[in-house]
Amino acid sequence: MKNLTEGNITDAVIKAIEGTQDARAKEVMTSLIRHLHSFVKEVQLTQDEWETAIDYLYNTGQISGPTRNEFVLTSDTLGISSLVDIINSNPDGGTEASVLGPFYIEGSKMVEVGADLIGDSEGEPTVVSGTVRTLGGEPIADAMIDLWQTAANGLYENQDPEQPENNLRCRMLTNEDGYYQFSTIKPVSYKVPTDGPVGVMLNLQGRHAWRPSHLHFKVSADGHRNVITEVFDEADEYIEEDAVFGVRKSLAIPYTKISEPSEAERFGVPSPFYRVEFDFELEAL
Ligand SMILES: [Fe+2]
Repeated sequence: MKNLTEGNITDAVIKAIEGTQDARAKEVMTSLIRHLHSFVKEVQLTQDEWETAIDYLYNTGQISGPTRNEFVLTSDTLGISSLVDIINSNPDGGTEASVLGPFYIEGSKMVEVGADLIGDSEGEPTVVSGTVRTLGGEPIADAMIDLWQTAANGLYENQDPEQPENNLRCRMLTNEDGYYQFSTIKPVSYKVPTDGPVGVMLNLQGRHAWRPSHLHFKVSADGHRNVITEVFDEADEYIEEDAVFGVRKSLAIPYTKISEPSEAERFGVPSPFYRVEFDFELEAL
């Protein structure tokens, strides 16, 4: 029997997974084991600290469900989600990716270009539009725009029983010119949920939980790589200190206030309103 020590246990575990058939899985798990062992040795992790980590994972699973994913929020607040986005972004261009976040729901209602999402929502009217195109600038018709955002109270529909189902979220196909447009309310800066393990962690680290105002988008089209991203209000007070590290310069744009009643009439929204224009560029597969 081999005598396991701090010096040889890492190699023993790596030897134990030698039979992993999938080459990439083997590469990733080997590296993960090396880094985790190295981390434990570097900080000389105590038994209590190990239990704290296991409790964190257990509690994160317990609070997660179909409408809330505390694992995603953990990844986001540790900058892991953004790091993955950054290393997988296309150096040749295209819309930069940003965090999916924990509030995405598949299968939102389908609406037409020009849809009004405001309904009974309180908040500042905002018209959002743009074009989906290729890296070469060709418009992409029938691209799927999937949008989700907060209400004026800073909550997503799936966090807030007071909001109707599908409130301030939708899917829409671009028209023959690759164009999309919808009326909504200006999203507000909000705090990520702090009633779970992530809140305990942020508190321990002396950090705030605020995210700058943003619209979430998932954009997809046949023959193109999907992009999951966020479009930020560049004037938001938290634009430089997003709790989940999602902001990129190319994704922070102006919300232009428009006061001409004729323009409000043209878009069918109350005056004054904000105008936001953002184009998406998708890489061909
Ligand atoms: Fe969000």
